[in-house]
Amino acid sequence: MIPEHIRKEVERLRKEISYHDYRYYVLNDPVISDYEYDMLVKKLKELEEKYPELITPDSPTRRIGDAITGEFPTVEHTIPMLSLDNTYSEEEVREFDRKVKRLLETDEEIEYAVELKIDGVAVSLEYRDGKFYRGSTRGNGHIGDEITNNLRAIKTVPLRLLTEEEEFMNIEVRGEVYMPRKAFEELNKEREKRGEPLFANPRNAAAGTLKNLDPKVVAERKLDIFIHTIPEPPHGLRTHASSIEKMREIGFKVTPFLRVVKGIDAVFPIIEEWNEKRKELDFDIDGMVIKVNDFTLQRNLGETEKAPRWAIAYKFPAEQAVTKLVKIELSVGRTGVVTPVAILEPVFISGTTVSRATLHNEDEIRRKDIRVGDYVVVEKGGEIIPKVVKVVKDRRTGKEKEFVFPDTCPVCGAKLVREEGEAAWRCINVACPAQIKGRILHYGSRNAMNIEGLGDVLVDMLVERGLVKDYGDLYYLKKEDISSLERMGEKSAENLLQEIEASKQRELERLIFGLGIRHIGIHAARILANRYHSIDRLKEASFEELAGIKGIGPISARSIKQFFEQEGNLRVLEKLRKAGVRMEEEVLEEGEKPLQGKKFVFTGALETMTRDEAQREVIRLGGEVSSSVSKKTDFVVVGKDPGSKYKKAISLGVKTITEEEFLRMIGRK
Ligand code: IVH
Repeated sequence: MIPEHIRKEVERLRKEISYHDYRYYVLNDPVISDYEYDMLVKKLKELEEKYPELITPDSPTRRIGDAITGEFPTVEHTIPMLSLDNTYSEEEVREFDRKVKRLLETDEEIEYAVELKIDGVAVSLEYRDGKFYRGSTRGNGHIGDEITNNLRAIKTVPLRLLTEEEEFMNIEVRGEVYMPRKAFEELNKEREKRGEPLFANPRNAAAGTLKNLDPKVVAERKLDIFIHTIPEPPHGLRTHASSIEKMREIGFKVTPFLRVVKGIDAVFPIIEEWNEKRKELDFDIDGMVIKVNDFTLQRNLGETEKAPRWAIAYKFPAEQAVTKLVKIELSVGRTGVVTPVAILEPVFISGTTVSRATLHNEDEIRRKDIRVGDYVVVEKGGEIIPKVVKVVKDRRTGKEKEFVFPDTCPVCGAKLVREEGEAAWRCINVACPAQIKGRILHYGSRNAMNIEGLGDVLVDMLVERGLVKDYGDLYYLKKEDISSLERMGEKSAENLLQEIEASKQRELERLIFGLGIRHIGIHAARILANRYHSIDRLKEASFEELAGIKGIGPISARSIKQFFEQEGNLRVLEKLRKAGVRMEEEVLEEGEKPLQGKKFVFTGALETMTRDEAQREVIRLGGEVSSSVSKKTDFVVVGKDPGSKYKKAISLGVKTITEEEFLRMIGRK
């Protein structure tokens, strides 16, 4: 009998891991560090090992990681793109070595290749006749996104190989796309100026960039690549190190600083060396990879479903530094949450200078007993803002001062409130300038109403001059209002007005997201738009009904109700309505849905719309979309460079249609 609390713990871990997978892979916006994530997975794995009856196919330990976006055509990896077993401990690296020897039935010291573990995005590059033919992401390890055009935009991806040797003409190589730190910092600076959300770290910036649908953007963003693996090395190559050398010769940029050593003892000084020196690199590494060098031995060891048995990743602990906490400031966010921020004596961590760190909330300050004047340990993990880990109490002099959380908003002076059960203090004054700016920026942001040009500096000026008090006012701006602002000419004023005008027709889900209802992210906004098709109907929905919707739940339901109960908010909605902002979308009655009950599968790239759009159109017209072909599939829509689904459709005798035929079917032609 498995104890109930274990069952619950396993369930809790799975939920939590799935949530972080979503933050990481889908939103590209992780909220915990890699280390914290790995620890959650480790705990779950341990419990599953102890209680195998609890393993279910949907456990996050059963897959390599799901990251197919649906925006790109898919590619099947005939040789799966595996992951690496991870560890943070020397002992586990030694255990890895013992296991390698045991499996190979040898007492002799093993030759290892030790190389940097690049903190980037895994990709595969395929060559045909010596030319770059196709590139893809890892996706879930078996199926990834085809991103050939984006990879072509990286200057270090060779378009032709520098060899004519037959065995390399049709090679596949794998590597890591990364963004150099400098490029990352410049990109974030630019984004800040434009009021766009910042990338948490160079890896997220690289991943976000590769998912961009416009290769021009990719080209601008200065991505780079290191090749580290040939999944099927030609026979002439005997070792990993020589294969990397060969890759360099034929035109690839390969993992730098590779070292070959005999015996596991020799590995640790190299790890130590790089743990120190990694600060000096121009790119992020999150550990070292230790690989059995000899390909014959690699083949003998083989792999598990998830990772090769011939390699292990040693991950570095997140980088920390000690510095002095000079003072604590409060920052007021878009939703009124007041976050205490530690102002630090500048210190260098992971290649950047850190002078601010989040303290999260009042309870955290108490729990960690943080005082002004303390020396603190600061850590840079997966987040944009570094955090204060703990106080170095030995260095206290007695002059440190306890921090008393103010009871008024530092921006507008209104009284702060702290709701029961919540850790955060909030400014609930809707007219608080800190929130006005944030709300307007959010309204115009890319996933919301996508008003290009409505950046930080401009919103600051608009609010400070009193030209807008909420996002509804944007629609009443006149050309003279804008062109009179600093650095805004006639032309840019016209452009902005055009953008604002165009935003009136955006999809309902964007509007719902843009309203800035607490707890309603883009995902929830989509659910609500699909369910209610209109702001008015959403406003009328009861708490019980909202709370019962899958993906919404009681917390969001309460927040939606609160939003529509606020007089001020209703006034803003009226402004939007009067300005002509689209507040509902066309719904088809049951009888009018031409694709009612029909099941669609998409394969290959569409030319006139994204896959996401096409799929949503199918659903709107009453059809269903599935990711795999079966006998029940009615139509497989075949785009450019279709994947294996096309073959499957043919073999099952499922009807295939072209994009043109599909467009006709949905009434777009
Ligand atoms: S070898 C079978 N070498 O780390 C997998 N991987 O956490 C062979 N990575 O998916 C991978 N640097 O994308 C290898 N020098 C390196 C690497 C490296 C980064 C990535 C790789 C892998 C992930 C696993």
